[in-house]
Amino acid sequence: MATELFRNDRHRVIVFNDLVRGDDGVQANQMLILHGDQSMLLDPGGALLYTPLSMAVARYLPLKQLTYIFASHQDPDVIGSADRWLTYTPAKIVCSKLWGRFVPHSVPHYMETGRDRYVLLPDEGAELVLGDTAVQCLPAHFLHSVGNFNVYDPIARALFSGDVGSSMVTDEPYAPVHDFRGHLPKMEGFHRRYMASNRACRTWVHMVRQLDIDMIVPQHGLPMQGPQVIGAFLDWMDELRCGVDLMTAPGKFTASSVIRPLSAT
Ligand SMILES: [Fe+2]
Ligand SMILES: [Fe+2]
Repeated sequence: MATELFRNDRHRVIVFNDLVRGDDGVQANQMLILHGDQSMLLDPGGALLYTPLSMAVARYLPLKQLTYIFASHQDPDVIGSADRWLTYTPAKIVCSKLWGRFVPHSVPHYMETGRDRYVLLPDEGAELVLGDTAVQCLPAHFLHSVGNFNVYDPIARALFSGDVGSSMVTDEPYAPVHDFRGHLPKMEGFHRRYMASNRACRTWVHMVRQLDIDMIVPQHGLPMQGPQVIGAFLDWMDELRCGVDLMTAPGKFTASSVIRPLSAT
C-alpha cells in the first residue's frame, strides 16, 4: 500500500513501504517525489522489487516520464535494479561520484547505457532542480557508506535520510513516530554497527540542525515527525558511539565457529 506523506497542487511525496516482505530481505521503503511533470524515485531497491515497484509507480506517472532515480548509496537494497530502471525508463541515476564506476556493474554491456544516464554527485553535495523547485542532495558520508547522500525536500520539509534513522519493524502500520524513547530499541543496534563513527554522526547532526524539517523519512522502518522526536533523535545521534568507536583489538584469533561444506548423503 502506498502512503502519501505530503500533497499540495504542485507537489506530492509518496512512500511505498510494503513491497519487500520481511522473508525476502530487510523491510525497505521506496519514496516518490512528484513535482509538476518532473519526478524522482529514491532508493528503488534490488531485482526482486523491480516488478512490484514499477507497477506501483505507474499508478502515479507513466514510467516513460520518470526524471531521476536517486541512490543514497551503493547497497543492493538501494540500487540493485539499476539495469531495469535504465532499460524501461529514461531516468538518470543520481548517486555519489564514488559509485559512478560501481553501479554500472549491475548493468550488462549490451544495454550500452552511456555516462549521460548518470548524475554523479561531488562529495559536498548538490542542488537538483525539479521543475520550478529544487531538492538538496546533502552529504551523509560514512553513515554508513563512504559515499552517502540524503535528500532534503524544502516543500514537504522532509529529509529522506537513507539508512540514517532506520528502524527494524515487522508488521507495524506505516505511520509517523512521535515518541523517541519508545522507538529507540528498534534503531539502536543497527546504528551502533552500521554507522561508522561518532565523528561522522556529529558532522551530519550539525548540518541537519540547520534545516527546517518536519519529517525524517528513512529507507527502513518508520518516519519520525515533529520537533520533539526529531530533536531527541538528533541529540542521540550527536552522542552516539558506534562503528569504529566500539572496536577493540581481538588479540590472537580463535575461531568461535567452524564452517564445513555440506556433506553428500
Ligand atoms: Fe545500506
Ligand atoms: Fe538500507
